[in-house]
Amino acid sequence: MSSDAPILFFDSGIGGLSILEPTRALIPTAPIVYAADNAAFPYGTRSETEIAARVPALLGRLTERVRPRLVVIACNTASTIALDHVRAALDVPVVGTVPAIKPAAEQTKTKIIGVLGTQATVRQPYVDNLSAQYAADCTVLRHGSAALVELAEQRLAGEDVDTQAVVGAAQPLFDQPGGDRIDTVVLACTHFPLLADWLRAAHPGVAFIDGGQGIARRIAYLTNGQQWPSTAPEGTAIFTATPPPALAKALAPYGLTRITSL
Ligand code: DGL
Repeated sequence: MSSDAPILFFDSGIGGLSILEPTRALIPTAPIVYAADNAAFPYGTRSETEIAARVPALLGRLTERVRPRLVVIACNTASTIALDHVRAALDVPVVGTVPAIKPAAEQTKTKIIGVLGTQATVRQPYVDNLSAQYAADCTVLRHGSAALVELAEQRLAGEDVDTQAVVGAAQPLFDQPGGDRIDTVVLACTHFPLLADWLRAAHPGVAFIDGGQGIARRIAYLTNGQQWPSTAPEGTAIFTATPPPALAKALAPYGLTRITSL
């Protein structure tokens, strides 16, 4: 394994940065390629059939192009629908991002957990299975929001985003029967940690958790003992459609200074 083989992160947009950031904290000189399928953004309003066909095909092309040491599907929607298909199609290790229901079940006191994801993620059997396996003694309430995904993209791109729009888009989770007793919310979309400060401020008694740190540890574990460059190389962001110009500026703090298209 050459030291300059990158880790390939994949999302529909900029949500995967919430996985990239804790990964860079653990492996600071890791070569990074970040791929955003913004031509098909948002994934959360697409069908299972579309995602299951699109994601493995795209990751096949990306893998041929950048020869990664590891692929991270930094997207809950793509992972809960297409993780098995991607693993079957690629011959590199693949790490998925699935809702952090297990840690939520371990820490909830009220035994009422919220899962905030995309519309596609919250209806997946994968989420039913995680709930049955790890949270059988809890009530798991779900809400899918496309608005929150858009708001996270806008915020990162430096647009004027209204805090109340973010808080309002999450509110239906808490308005369900039992929702007022939720004490732990799983941010089951990688875009949402980018809005977590506002959600926390609006719900002070509620813990908002995501899988970012756990996935970063998993990546570090799977690449343990491999060679890394002595200094961090420039990271590359690959978009499937022309990104808004403001985004390029927003990616630089994440080490992504080369912007290209597929
Ligand atoms: N960031 C993605 C996720 O974790 C998908 C957002 C979208 O494109 O709808 O689910």
